[in-house]
Amino acid sequence: MAWKTAFVVLGTAGAALLFSAGAASAQANDAQVKRGQTLWQNRGCAGCHSIGKGKGSGVAPDLAGVSERRSHEWIVNWLKDTNGMLATDSTAQALMKEYKGAKMPAQKLTDDDANAILAFISATEAKQKKK
Ligand code: HEC
Repeated sequence: MAWKTAFVVLGTAGAALLFSAGAASAQANDAQVKRGQTLWQNRGCAGCHSIGKGKGSGVAPDLAGVSERRSHEWIVNWLKDTNGMLATDSTAQALMKEYKGAKMPAQKLTDDDANAILAFISATEAKQKKK
């Protein structure tokens, strides 16, 4: 019977570990979302883009659902080297045509910054879905 007790003890410890790992990553995610929000405001993204408000002024695409219509890699590349993407990527070029030649100002974000902004966009979408 002793081995059974050992299993129970190990199982409980394992669950506790999993639980605290989950809490830690939720915290890391919160920090990332906050950083993304600060970047979103400081970089003026909000001046052109909305999240979940429909087409709005039509200056720039609404970014709700952007992570479904583009790959994560595409968005990160776009935010790291906007001009490079406009020069070489057909999706970026089509998008610029759709927005009548309006050109998004070149962004030179780092991977971390781009990921933080994406985390902020998904968190904002998730909040809107709850309403
Ligand atoms: C001056 C207006 C302007 C600003 C500021 C701006 N954008 Fe854009 N953005 C655009 C336009 C216009 C497009 C469509 C592509 C084009 O015409 O260059 C676009 C496209 C995008 C796309 C692709 C959308 C899609 O549907 O695929 C993403 C993602 C994006 N912008 C994110 C951002 C982020 C994040 C910031 C801030 C760091 C930002 N933009 C700042 C105007 C802007």
